[in-house]
Amino acid sequence: MTSNPVQTDSWSALKAHHEQTGEPDMRQMFRDDPGRCSRFSLEAAGIFLDFSKNRISSETLKLLCDLARQMRLDAWIERMFTGEKINLTEDRAVLHTALRRRSDSPLVVDGTDIMPAILAVFEKMGRFVEAIHSGSWRGCTGRPITDAVNIGIGGSDLGPRMVVEALAGQAVDTIRSHFVANIDGTDLCRTLKDLDHESTLFVVSSKTFTTQETMTNARSARQWFLEKAGSSANIARHFVAVSTNQAEVETFGIDPVNMFEFWDWVGGRYSLWSAIGLSVALSVGMEKFECLLMGANAMDEHFRNARFEENLPVILALIGIWNRNFIGAETYAVLPYDQRLHRFPAYLQQCDMESNGKTVGREGRQVATKTGPVLWGEPGTNGQHAFYQLIHQGSDLVPVDFIAVLEDESGLELHHKILIANCFAQAEALMKGKTAGQALEELRYSNANAEDVHLLARHKTFPGNKPSNMLLIDKLSPRNLGALIALYEHKIFTQGILWGINSFDQWGVELGKQLASGLLQEMDNELRPELHDSSTNGLMRRFKASRA
Ligand code: F6P
Repeated sequence: MTSNPVQTDSWSALKAHHEQTGEPDMRQMFRDDPGRCSRFSLEAAGIFLDFSKNRISSETLKLLCDLARQMRLDAWIERMFTGEKINLTEDRAVLHTALRRRSDSPLVVDGTDIMPAILAVFEKMGRFVEAIHSGSWRGCTGRPITDAVNIGIGGSDLGPRMVVEALAGQAVDTIRSHFVANIDGTDLCRTLKDLDHESTLFVVSSKTFTTQETMTNARSARQWFLEKAGSSANIARHFVAVSTNQAEVETFGIDPVNMFEFWDWVGGRYSLWSAIGLSVALSVGMEKFECLLMGANAMDEHFRNARFEENLPVILALIGIWNRNFIGAETYAVLPYDQRLHRFPAYLQQCDMESNGKTVGREGRQVATKTGPVLWGEPGTNGQHAFYQLIHQGSDLVPVDFIAVLEDESGLELHHKILIANCFAQAEALMKGKTAGQALEELRYSNANAEDVHLLARHKTFPGNKPSNMLLIDKLSPRNLGALIALYEHKIFTQGILWGINSFDQWGVELGKQLASGLLQEMDNELRPELHDSSTNGLMRRFKASRA
């Protein structure tokens, strides 16, 4: 089973196909084929995907699906779902899908059926959330909890924060949710400023319970709390932990009774389905959290069972590979036309870029292809007034995923119609563009002289033929949101398999952490110039001078 896609026949065939077709004109393809949209769209688990506005034909799609088959994607999917240790460099299974599994049958990792432990943690979460919501869990002075502060970073922040924001309209009205991630003290201070220690619950979320930012924030929060509450015996009513590391949780001073466990086979950026979702459950209730899991499970089942040609995550991944490796796109924008999803691009940045931002293949050799693109995005329509200029007329091709929700939650129907009209219009504009002739025609009645009109027309010309996907969701229910997130997780998995990389480690984050801890120690000591370059030494001198 090769991990180098370039060695497959289908890669060569795709290359030849690309050379032969060049830059196929989507406008022409739409004119030639009135059924293009229905042939290039799919629906599963509450998500509709129109991928017709890509530079692909049926032949392109066939070759891409052949590539997935030759890279044995089917076998890799099974290896993941059945708990094989596919995270090779960390010798771990990859089983976030087990957390949303809806089956009583055992799932064995290292000789142990993991399902009973998963269900036990969910039950414990349910009891805790119920106690908080009903007011039976009280703070140290007998007041009910009104504010829950998630302290975590990376996967222990981005996932739950994004979901809490997305579902805020469905939140219980007795709890306000807060998130503190940044080591910058401003983040914590601004959050604490409006809180009352008597009615605040801190959820310290960290897979390792050693992450510098999270532990520093958690210690400062504990100090803030103890300055007001006095006795450390009161901590038990105000601090709970979500972690895989019971020893560190106890060292911090949280009783394991108030710890919600998860396991090393849950990757940090795939952890919102585990007890890391506690902040989600506190916000919307355990039932809705379970609906989120069910939606993800529906996408899991689809991913595991559907033919590649009809498989949403696979198709999204293959189109991404076509755009990245054959058309040459270096970045990729995710543009949700829904304010509730405003944190979705930030969440997806970690999920995608920490997973597939790698150049060493699974077998330790340099990969032969470009891998994960830079992912970025902002909600529409805000982005239209910021960076869309570059997407329409810039020198780089930026494929786009538009995401829109058809049901309006705001009650301002006109706003929603404008929002959706803009979303569809942008996709149409990117595909159609505007010819110089059309631009000239629009300027026909202008008062400018002919030369200026021609010059202006050149500036007003849009090349078009820019690829985009359109994802539509009827309603932003917890279930559909779960399916949307799982769709992207599996897309990322598929791309990792096809690029021959391990999507589940993140060694690239370590070096900066090591250097930062050295520099931190040096901040209060003499500089050791031999350790640093002149730039780093100079920056450190400036920092020290600012403190002098
Ligand atoms: O530094 C990267 C990372 O390890 C992420 O993968 C992870 O989500 C984040 O740090 C937080 O880690 P933890 O949950 O262990 O605090």
